[in-house]
Amino acid sequence: MIIAIDGPAASGKGTLARRLAAHFGLPHLDTGLLYRATALALIDAGRRLDDEAAAEAAARGLALTDFDESRLRGREMGEAASLVAVMPRVRAALVEAQRAFAARPDGAVLDGRDIGTVIAPQADVKIFVTASPETRAQRRALELARRGEPVDYAAILDDVRKRDARDAGRAVAPLLAAADAATLDTSALDIEGAFAAALAIVERARKP
Ligand code: DC
Repeated sequence: MIIAIDGPAASGKGTLARRLAAHFGLPHLDTGLLYRATALALIDAGRRLDDEAAAEAAARGLALTDFDESRLRGREMGEAASLVAVMPRVRAALVEAQRAFAARPDGAVLDGRDIGTVIAPQADVKIFVTASPETRAQRRALELARRGEPVDYAAILDDVRKRDARDAGRAVAPLLAAADAATLDTSALDIEGAFAAALAIVERARKP
């Protein structure tokens, strides 16, 4: 079974993907990490984030495992990833590895922005996870505070809105619900509530 989970930044899709993967015993790929790792490789090499040739080379050089998540999860890297992700050659460089992951024999759970539309349009279950920008900014603020990073709610909300606009507005593989995706709005749900709702969507989709 392939489960495709898409949605905007801080919608809760990562947590849901991890939980669903554990529940069904499936491997999980957080595809945002690929874009974050590409951005980090560029920064470490002293290259500009809009250097498409260097970014393509960095993307092609990534290994799907062994990401240093502590460096990838921060707020700046999310911003940088969003910039790198608009470049068609970067997206093309990362497609194959994601499709290969989705094609694992028992299936997989992938989360990102274009899983149900581009990476795995054949997925058995597609969930588009959303939440209001304010809810997502609050969640991000909490997450950053837990990591010991400085928290400026207004700046975070501004980031969330900018990132939504960039991710949804780009020409190639924009953030978009697949026509056959179930939408799950987590604004009024806690993690347990969101997981129960996601599980119900999966069970419904599996019924013949
Ligand atoms: O899910 P995330 O916040 O880790 O993603 C970081 C950025 O990477 C996001 O703003 C856009 C990009 N991204 C993408 O374009 N396509 C994906 N499948 C996953 C992430």
